[in-house]
Amino acid sequence: MTSRRDLMRTALAAAPITMLSAASARAVTSWLQTLPPDKTAGNVAADEDFWRTVQEAFAVDRTVVNLNNGGVSPSPRAVQDALRRFTEETNRLPAKILWQEMEPKQESVRQGLASLFGVAPTEVAITRNASESLQNIQFGMTLQKGDEVLTTTHDYPRMLTTWEQRVRRDGIVLKKVPVPTPLKDAAALVRSIEEAITSRTKVIHVSHVVFLTGQIMPVGEICRMARRRGIPCIVDGAHSFAQFPFTRDELDCDFFGTSLHKWLCGPIGTGMLYIRKDRIADIWPLMAAPATMDADIKKFEEIGTHPAAIHNALGEAIDFNVSLGLDRKAARYRYLHSIWTERLQRNERVSFMTDITNPANQCALVLVHIKDTDPGKLSTWLYDKHRILTVAIAHEDFKGLRIAPSVYTTRRDMERFADAMESVANGTAKID
Ligand SMILES: Cc1ncc(COP(=O)(O)O)c(C=O)c1O
Repeated sequence: MTSRRDLMRTALAAAPITMLSAASARAVTSWLQTLPPDKTAGNVAADEDFWRTVQEAFAVDRTVVNLNNGGVSPSPRAVQDALRRFTEETNRLPAKILWQEMEPKQESVRQGLASLFGVAPTEVAITRNASESLQNIQFGMTLQKGDEVLTTTHDYPRMLTTWEQRVRRDGIVLKKVPVPTPLKDAAALVRSIEEAITSRTKVIHVSHVVFLTGQIMPVGEICRMARRRGIPCIVDGAHSFAQFPFTRDELDCDFFGTSLHKWLCGPIGTGMLYIRKDRIADIWPLMAAPATMDADIKKFEEIGTHPAAIHNALGEAIDFNVSLGLDRKAARYRYLHSIWTERLQRNERVSFMTDITNPANQCALVLVHIKDTDPGKLSTWLYDKHRILTVAIAHEDFKGLRIAPSVYTTRRDMERFADAMESVANGTAKID
């Protein structure tokens, strides 16, 4: 009988790399579409032949090891190609092509996003980033003086600033529940959030993946607990969407906002807003829309003239992700992290702010610290000396380097990073 792995090998054999690199920017997506479906594809996480071909989808600077794909990610060449094409087409006759041809095309993007999230297209608005998506909800929700919003100490600063502005303007109350680092007991965190609820709590706002540590939060449990108590949940999915597979039903949230230029690898300046159908009419859009649109998710897209090419090129990013498969992506991220964490965790000066022993806690992002080092200096040294890009994180509870590889990252890239970090941890390299 043909094994899953044999099936994968057969598909790989049909895709000579030289042919792929010479062919169109879309060649890798076309090849991925010939593979067996994601969940039945066997374990290819460590198969460098497979990922070598996936890497061909990207035209990144290979003189640098980019381990900051969390802030914003490069797009596959096919996405950039579509963006260029749509921009050029628009500019042939903008006043006609932009509104009559380009804008209607975004409906297939909406359908693609809705299908990835397991919701109806009528619940999905296309935005420019997670900030816009989340602020539509945060500013658009009717709250009275004294009403309470519950969030955590590890939520994203801009989103906390948004609530704090409402504290100053509207007199609402913002409460932040501390998140232990690393988080070992998810049920205890859900209990802490539940204990912070009062009769004035109107909404819970929580990140799905903590931007600081990569911690995957027990969002489904939090939303279900809140639902039992009649409280809606806003999930900040800036770092989760397309990083690993999940659907709205698994989260059971009422509101979800994400960027699509992070883990979906969409064009820079793309985001998605989800609102459960029966809640759309409750939320005022950031930019005004007519009363006829009150219950229409598209009221959040009434932002004036903007480049349709950017959101239309999302079609290629969605296709790339669906064809590659989110299970395969998630398995690859965890494998890439295992290459360096297994080496570094043997060194007693190294600690992890993400529980790397439990895949439920962590996927594409890991926060690591080497005792007695300044993460800012270490990050600068890694770039100047080794051309490895990382991001230094400083929080009042912890500090470290956030490591975020991508699907184009190679095994050798992670080994290079491990070598450099080991030299610091064992004292053979000096960073000052
Ligand atoms: C958790 C979280 N929320 C929201 C945002 C805002 O994303 P954007 O700048 O794409 O709007 C970020 C950005 O990194 C984030 O990490």
